[in-house]
Amino acid sequence: MQQLTNKRILLGITGGIAAYKSAELVRHLKKAGADVRVVMTKGAMEFITPLTLQALSGNPVHHALLDPEAEAGMGHIELAKWADLLLVAPASANFLARLSQGLGDDLLTTICLATEAPLAIAPAMNQAMWKDGTTQQNLQRLIDIKGKNFHVFGPDAGEQACGDVGPGRMLDPEVIAASCADLFETGLLAGINLVVTAGPTREAIDPVRYISNHSSGKMGYAIAEAARDAGARVTLISGPVNLPAPERITLKQINSARDMLDEALAQMGECQVFIAAAAVADYRPLTVANQKIKKSGDQIDITMIKNPDVVATVAHHEQRPFTVGFAAETQAVEDYARGKLTNKNLDMIVANDVSREDIGFNSDNNAATAIWQEGQQSFDSMSKHTMARQLIELIAMRYQESQQHPAG
Ligand code: PMT
Repeated sequence: MQQLTNKRILLGITGGIAAYKSAELVRHLKKAGADVRVVMTKGAMEFITPLTLQALSGNPVHHALLDPEAEAGMGHIELAKWADLLLVAPASANFLARLSQGLGDDLLTTICLATEAPLAIAPAMNQAMWKDGTTQQNLQRLIDIKGKNFHVFGPDAGEQACGDVGPGRMLDPEVIAASCADLFETGLLAGINLVVTAGPTREAIDPVRYISNHSSGKMGYAIAEAARDAGARVTLISGPVNLPAPERITLKQINSARDMLDEALAQMGECQVFIAAAAVADYRPLTVANQKIKKSGDQIDITMIKNPDVVATVAHHEQRPFTVGFAAETQAVEDYARGKLTNKNLDMIVANDVSREDIGFNSDNNAATAIWQEGQQSFDSMSKHTMARQLIELIAMRYQESQQHPAG
């Protein structure tokens, strides 16, 4: 069910005894990596409490259409736009009737009308209600109107809560979760834990001054987003930048190279792919003054000492992930990059020329050459977002290959 990693599933619950199974459904969807929000009808709340679903989903539960407070948080239109999939489980006969008539008389039906996401339903009702001609007509009407964007999971047949036997039981939550997964394509990095470093580090001189560089974080953030869109669970270790926190990515904000190393090492064992796009300071001031250094003579000297090398430490770790570095060079770009590939024990290095103003530091564009021991691939000037997607494709391919042929 790796297809569900990072997917946003809006689960609608309608009134029926099968509503108690929705709690388990939330658990399965979450376990598969989905972000789950729940919308309940009034009837559903007679069978299971919003608190249970809030605790399991980790998100507030929505139920009122005309609730100014809830609308101020995440309104019905935002919920409709948020979802990658709207799943209604259980879907009662009454809900199917209202949906097939295009009613928007509560929060759930309104979201069903407003969303462009695929809609899947898992019907659950008494066998006679399921077989009833009106229910079947309502269902057929929905299939005809909604076409490919509409999916029906089940129902199952068997003994029902009321004692009847026949079709109408809601499918097992695990089967519903697997059916949801089948609606999505498997991403290139589905289910992979991937860490990206981005931005500059700041090395303190005194409480108000630091040494840093021109990295904006744009390249690293674009890579983190491309990896997320390829299905990876992404942790982004970022120096101070002026970029918004990307959605569905775990963001760890750091200042210095040593902070970055601590965060990187905390990921070892879990992380399968590590991509170092950060511009980490090679040196830091030997001492950090406790108070602001006062202006005095014409010259001051700051003694610098070497920082730990984050990416090299990761690449030499006993639980080393597939490790990709970047090389920021101003001359002999490929030669220096090859040296770093070997010295830092990397699986791949992406060399970019930071002497050019149209690419590299702070620009929206970049041009680079990805180099590994047996080959290389060049990327002409393009937006950092486009390059990030192409790099992620290449990294995913090389990573999969490394898993098939591990180095002896
Ligand atoms: O942030 P942007 O404005 O979008 O700019 C993008 C970029 C130019 C910063 C990016 O594309 C890039 O080249 N990043 C690497 C910058 C760098 O520090 O290069 P380097 O050649 O000095 O280091 C080589 C590799 O070692 C890098 O992966 C770096 O993250 C890593 N390193 C370096 C020093 C150190 N102490 N620890 C490290 O992990």
